[in-house]
Amino acid sequence: MNVLVLVGSLRAGSTNRQLADAAVAHLPAGVTGTVFERLADLPHYSEELDHDDALPQVARDLREAVADADAVLLVTPEYNGSLPSALKNAVDWVSRPRGTAAMAGKPAAVIGASGSPNAAKWAREDGVKVLRVAGAEVIEDTFGVGASFQAFEDGRLGDAALDAELRTLVGRLTRAVDATRSAA
Ligand SMILES: Cc1cc2nc3c(=O)[nH]c(=O)nc-3n(C[C@H](O)[C@H](O)[C@H](O)COP(=O)(O)O)c2cc1C
Repeated sequence: MNVLVLVGSLRAGSTNRQLADAAVAHLPAGVTGTVFERLADLPHYSEELDHDDALPQVARDLREAVADADAVLLVTPEYNGSLPSALKNAVDWVSRPRGTAAMAGKPAAVIGASGSPNAAKWAREDGVKVLRVAGAEVIEDTFGVGASFQAFEDGRLGDAALDAELRTLVGRLTRAVDATRSAA
């Protein structure tokens, strides 16, 4: 089983990247987590680019990575009360072509970190909404970290209760994959 991780912060030292790594560390044995490292290279979605002869290679690679993954984990900071554009753009790319979109039917979950006590709540809610509209089988519950600049110690969440909550959501995502497989 492979979980593809999309991280909405593009900056070095991102707390959301640390959160992504902490989530991957909670994947059960035999499950891999892969961060898609090229969201910064992804052009803004345009229907003019969305043709076989014009499709940017990075968009093709993202679609293939989502199609090959068993599940997708969105890791989001909150920018102006919502998802950062890099993440929304990625979802837009994998929501098309209609009917054969890589995201359709894919188990997914949303987690996020922000410096504020709000813990990226609005971004997480919007993440769930856009994934659902894109056709994913998204878990409605999300996981958030507030005061994120103080939250990590050696790549892990310092608060054991919070870390247990993260482990629970990651476990729910992998079980959703199992459920999808046994229903098929
Ligand atoms: C353009 C911009 C808008 C932001 N808007 C919000 C916001 O609406 N709510 C919030 O809690 N934090 C907001 N922040 C702060 C980010 O959530 C914070 O920088 C985030 O934790 C950074 O994540 P990172 O460490 O993964 O880069 C904003 C930051 C930027 C750069």
